[in-house]
Amino acid sequence: MRRIRLTTAGESHGPGLTAILQGLPAGLEVDTDFIQRELARRQHGFGRGRRMQIEQDQVDIRGGVRGGTTLGSPIGLWIPNRDFDNWRGVMDPGELDADKTEQRRLRSPRPGHADLAGGLKYLRRDLRDILERASARESVARVASGAFAKLLLAELGIEIRSGVRSLGPIGAERPTPTWEEVLALDDDSPLRAIHCDLEDQMVALVEQMKEEGDTLGGAVTVIAHGVPAGLGSHVHWDEKLDGLLTQAVMSVPAVKAVEIGSALAAAGGPGSEAHDPIERNDKGEWHRPTNRAGGLEGGVTNGADVVVTAYKKPISTLRKGMPSVDLDTLESRLSQYERSDVTALPAAGVIAEAMVALVLADALLEKVGGDSMAEVHEHFEATRAQQRIWPSS
Ligand SMILES: Cc1cc2nc3c(=O)[nH]c(=O)nc-3n(C[C@H](O)[C@H](O)[C@H](O)COP(=O)(O)O)c2cc1C
Repeated sequence: MRRIRLTTAGESHGPGLTAILQGLPAGLEVDTDFIQRELARRQHGFGRGRRMQIEQDQVDIRGGVRGGTTLGSPIGLWIPNRDFDNWRGVMDPGELDADKTEQRRLRSPRPGHADLAGGLKYLRRDLRDILERASARESVARVASGAFAKLLLAELGIEIRSGVRSLGPIGAERPTPTWEEVLALDDDSPLRAIHCDLEDQMVALVEQMKEEGDTLGGAVTVIAHGVPAGLGSHVHWDEKLDGLLTQAVMSVPAVKAVEIGSALAAAGGPGSEAHDPIERNDKGEWHRPTNRAGGLEGGVTNGADVVVTAYKKPISTLRKGMPSVDLDTLESRLSQYERSDVTALPAAGVIAEAMVALVLADALLEKVGGDSMAEVHEHFEATRAQQRIWPSS
C-alpha cells in the first residue's frame, strides 16, 4: 500500500495492542461507537474459546484525532489486553517471574502454527516468544484501523460486509453470494451464515467437533459495494488491485487461499460461462448482468461489487493434540494444548473486511488524492463526472 500505511505492535497476552495508521486525510469524522461496534463484531461467533469472554475490547485513540475529526497526522490506537492481568510475571516487558514463566513455556511446537518455523528463525527456546505475536489477537489492531478506512469509504458511498459462506463441508457447493444476500444476513446470528438455512447444521457440527477435541475451517466472502471503476492498475504488476487484495486477505491468520469473484467455478468451465457481458442501459450507464469477475478486470475495478472469498484452514490447536517433538528431550510427544477456538470464521470475515477496507481506501486515495476530506470529495466527484460522459470526454 502506498498512501495508507498500517503498523501494529503487541503480543497476545502482553499489556495490549498498538496501531499506527498513516495516510488518512484531515477532516474525517471519527465515529468511535462505530469503531467499538466493529471490535465487538470481531469477538462474536459460535465456536470461540474462553478468551473472548475475558476480553471486551476498548479502543483508546492516542493521536491523530482532535475534537472527533482526523488531523491528517498518524493515528495512534491503544487496545489493552484485559487477560494481561492473568499473565503478569510472564508477559511483562520488564522483569519476569522465573517459575511462572517456566510453567507457561511452550516446548512442543503445534503443527499449523508459526511455533517451529519461528523458533528456527529467531532461535528462541521458549516458543511462547513466537506464539504471542503470531496469535490472531493482533487482528484486533487491524479491525480498529480498518474501521477508520471504512468510515472514509462510507463518506464516498462505499460499504463493506462479509458472511460465512461455508463451514467445513457445509455450504461448500453454494455459489458465490451477492451483495443482497450478504446484506440480508443476521449479523448477530451464531455463525453469521450467508445461507441461514444452513446455520443450524453448522452449529451442530461445531458442537460435535468441540466434543471430539477437533476444529473446523471454511470460507467467508467479503463484498465491497459502491466501488467506483478505475481503482488499481493494469499497467504495473505490483499495483494490480486483485494482487493487493489477495495479499492483504491472505495475511489474515489461517487464511490459505483467496478467490476473486467466482474464480474457482470459472476455472472449471468454458470461457463463455466465466466472463461478464458488457451492456449499456437506457440511462447511458455501463451494466454487467453478472459479476463473475468479482468487480476486477485487469487488476482494475470495473464498477461492479468487489467480491473476495477467503478460505480458512481449520484451527491448528487441537485439544486432542498432534504429533510433535519435545524441545527439551527431543523425543516425540503430542503438541501442547493452549486454550483455543473450535472455529473463528465469523471473526475472520470481520478481519478480512478490515483488510479489504484498508486496501480500497489506499487505492481510492491513490486515484483521487487529497489531504483533506473536502479535497477528496471534490476530486472523487470530478472523477465520477468524467466517467459519466466517457467516451466523449
Ligand atoms: C479470529 C481468529 C482466531 C483464531 N484463533 C485461533 C485459536 O484460538 N487457536 C489456534 O490454534 N489458531 C487460531 N487462529 C489461527 C492461527 O492464528 C493461525 O493459524 C496461526 O497463527 C498460523 O498462521 P497461518 O495459519 O496463517 O499459517 C485464529 C485465526 C483467526 C483469524
